[in-house]
Amino acid sequence: MICIPNANLPVVLGLTMVKAFAPGKCILFGEHAVVYGHPAVAVAIDSGVEVELIESDAWTIEGMPFQSEKHPHLSHILEDVFNYDGKPLEISINSDLFSAAGLGSSAALSNAMGAAVQKLLDSDCELDVIELAKIGHAAEAKAQLGRASPTDTATSAMGGCIVVSGQKVSGTRHVFDSSLVTPEGMRKWSICEVELPDNLDAWLVLGFTGIGSPTGDMVAGVAKLLNDDPSKHKEMDAISKITYAGLAALGAGNLEAVGMAMNTCHEKLQLLEVSSRELDALVEAVLPHSLGAKLTGAGGGGCMVALTEQPQRVAEAIEVAGGTPLISRLGAKGVRIV
Ligand code: MEV
Repeated sequence: MICIPNANLPVVLGLTMVKAFAPGKCILFGEHAVVYGHPAVAVAIDSGVEVELIESDAWTIEGMPFQSEKHPHLSHILEDVFNYDGKPLEISINSDLFSAAGLGSSAALSNAMGAAVQKLLDSDCELDVIELAKIGHAAEAKAQLGRASPTDTATSAMGGCIVVSGQKVSGTRHVFDSSLVTPEGMRKWSICEVELPDNLDAWLVLGFTGIGSPTGDMVAGVAKLLNDDPSKHKEMDAISKITYAGLAALGAGNLEAVGMAMNTCHEKLQLLEVSSRELDALVEAVLPHSLGAKLTGAGGGGCMVALTEQPQRVAEAIEVAGGTPLISRLGAKGVRIV
């Protein structure tokens, strides 16, 4: 990357600083299936990760010495991607996402860090969100043992509503393509945007089970299940059909149909053995006040999501059932300098 010395960034006590924010994401349909080239639909949420970089005399993170081996995502971005050789940096990270909870916190961290470094190196540049999504995807793939779709990083980078699929999905706007060599072979995805109707009168309420669940382990578990019992591929095919139906309903603003598709998607994810007692309990608790609900992300623990016109009631139901709620609109803005 060519660096242009920056002149337009805030300077505090003689030190240049930059702050970037990237949103988390919520998968409405297609988690796990997307790793195998089926479509997934995800929206950016209001909560996310903020990274602040201040040029300094010593490398620190959250006030402690920065050791690159302890922060492989961040050092990969600094060293391998941007060849950063500027002044040492004070790195601060602020997140209002639950971590290892299926909300894309590591993708948001990669995107916010990448955006902050991009801006620090060239204060005049427009953020290259596609490049950031690709950088994040490479980092996720490393962390998930070669099995990672670009869903989390693309949604956090671009914001709005994103469809990721092995093939172009009609009714969407193609933005870029991505590929990865996985242990099961080469995968290619097309990353597309979808315009959400602006009169959508519904909210997402996420419910955290309190149990962190590493995505890599869950994705590896599904790979093993499919290997041991290839008939489970029919659940993947079913999720794919539900995803197309859910997407069409979303585009038409038919929220009842979106909710029904979410409920059916949850049943299929249960058959892929990625739900848990805690996730099922939260899903059941919110159904009386929701249009639909399902686990979101990798499962095993982490979060469920409800689509609802009564976000406060759903948040209460989640709390009563032992979870922690987070309310969001659908389709927040993507990564940005703040
Ligand atoms: C994780 O947020 C979603 C999964 O489909 C994994 C991936 O897409 O890389 C489980």
